[in-house]
Amino acid sequence: MIEKVIQIAKEAGEIIRDGFGKNFSVEFKTGASNLVTEIDKKSENAIINFVHKNYPSHTILAEESGKLFFGGEYLWVVDPLDGTTNFAHGLPIFSVSIGVLKNNELIAGVIYDVMNDMAYSSEKGSGAFRNNTKLSVNKNNKLEESVLVTGFPYDIKENPGNAIELFGAFLRRARAIRRLGSAAIDMCYVASGVFDAFWEVHLNPWDVAAGMLLVKEAGGVVTNFKNEKIDIYSKQILVSNGQIQNAMLEVLNSVK
Ligand code: IPD
Ligand code: CA
Ligand code: CA
Repeated sequence: MIEKVIQIAKEAGEIIRDGFGKNFSVEFKTGASNLVTEIDKKSENAIINFVHKNYPSHTILAEESGKLFFGGEYLWVVDPLDGTTNFAHGLPIFSVSIGVLKNNELIAGVIYDVMNDMAYSSEKGSGAFRNNTKLSVNKNNKLEESVLVTGFPYDIKENPGNAIELFGAFLRRARAIRRLGSAAIDMCYVASGVFDAFWEVHLNPWDVAAGMLLVKEAGGVVTNFKNEKIDIYSKQILVSNGQIQNAMLEVLNSVK
């Protein structure tokens, strides 16, 4: 199945690459920050059609269309374009993210880094890969020497929560923090050993499904801010190399 998931992630990526920098229509989902473009929808339609044709009994949960074809034991969780704000503004950092669950358990995931033409893939129990290269989280155990990555929810102006305070607290502890604008790519870089950890206060299943499996298969750890195991619906997420997990939790819980 993983080959099929890679195939459709790349096909969707090609649609996105073709549209990048061209004229496309943009709509607002909720307020001026939360965009959706016609390319998000084209990518999503291609993935839905592919899954429905190849796996007619499988259920799909897709960001722009919601839940489709209810009933099967398999669930495809689809973010057709992760990093829409980057895409719409001409910044070439965005991805296609597809996670597949069987009986509520993640069994496969693919994140396609569109502009770098890199497919990050994982199957439960088989490791994590970037194209054909096996991936592993890094071994750094000092938060002070870490480069971290995070993102912010679209409704941060209305619901700031403690996202801004957390950002400040980590800035004071870590070597550096990056904000790339695609949660799925953020997790690819933790799985690759580039970043030491990623956290975000509020994500959706399509943002995290593929990335969660990828990081675990690369030897990393995925929890909430209380160090508890999470599923794709958990919203709050901490992803780390395992070595700095406790230091990350300490900072996450020092800010109320
Ligand atoms: C967003 C990106 C971003 C994260 C946001 C997500 P979208 O997804 O992953 O990095 O900070 O919380 O909503 O809307 O570009 O698919
Ligand atoms: Ca997303
Ligand atoms: Ca999206």
